[in-house]
Amino acid sequence: MSYFSDVERDLVVAGRTELADGVVALDLVSHNGRDLPAWTPGSHVDVIFPALTDAEPLERQYSLCGDRGDRGSWRVAVLREGDGRGGSLRLHDTVAVGDRLRVRGPRNHFPFDPVSGTTYRFVAGGIGITPLTSMVAAADAAGVEWTLDYAGRSRSAMAFAHDLVSRHPSRVRLHAADEGSRLDAAALARESGGDTVIYACGPARLLEALEGAFADAGDDVLHVERFEAKEYGDPVWSDAFDVELALTGSVVTVSPGVSVLDAIREQSPETTVLSSCRRGTCGTCEAPVLEGEVEHRDSILTPVEREESAVMMVCVSRAACPRIVLDL
Ligand code: FES
Repeated sequence: MSYFSDVERDLVVAGRTELADGVVALDLVSHNGRDLPAWTPGSHVDVIFPALTDAEPLERQYSLCGDRGDRGSWRVAVLREGDGRGGSLRLHDTVAVGDRLRVRGPRNHFPFDPVSGTTYRFVAGGIGITPLTSMVAAADAAGVEWTLDYAGRSRSAMAFAHDLVSRHPSRVRLHAADEGSRLDAAALARESGGDTVIYACGPARLLEALEGAFADAGDDVLHVERFEAKEYGDPVWSDAFDVELALTGSVVTVSPGVSVLDAIREQSPETTVLSSCRRGTCGTCEAPVLEGEVEHRDSILTPVEREESAVMMVCVSRAACPRIVLDL
């Protein structure tokens, strides 16, 4: 299930706090002091940076990690990634208190709704802690059983670590690599009972280890959010295919090597399809599927959602047949 908002706002940076080595928190408020929309645990926003050249604006996704009860502000925490794609450097190096940021959302492709009687295990790697902070708060407020395993390079680089341990010393386990503590996905799977559900976010190698460790668990046991796009091989349908757009009846031909998103924009400019990450990790380009078989090549949909195939991410996913119909 997803929760969407495509609304864009100019928000003011009201606070800037160094949370840990290389991690800064930005508190965003409306310019007129009005409340911001409520959000659910696991939500993220798109931050839209003005284009530096005549290229498309740069957009990046950041999980909301503040107090959901504080309707006056949203908090994002950003890791400075020197070898990243540029968004974190712009936030770290150029954004100051008082600046305005264009923000879209919030939206949620990683929803968490605690159910009484279920045991939750949260697993975070590095900056992957950000979506889990609101889940931990929600689990605690709901009175369900939960634990958090949080891995990072060192305690000084692990945002929220001190606060989480202070508040929940019996539930939070830190795994700081410089202290010789490593998160063992296989051990975690062995410790998890049949009523356990896992929510995890972090680097690809951590999520892959968890997917391996929980490979025999049911589809609804392991829930992950990826910051990095999953790697896929060649598409299963290597020829061109047609995409019928049900609202206009127009038919777009998608050639090999061209995304459905780009084909629609080029051949049916009257059709609006938003996009942000363009690599299958944010969900902005989600389109309802009415007919046809889709090869899902995103990093968002769960195995159940892939099976249902009610939606597809048109920036990366493709048809697995000669023709599909989208409700666009
Ligand atoms: S634009 Fe982000 S998933 Fe397609």
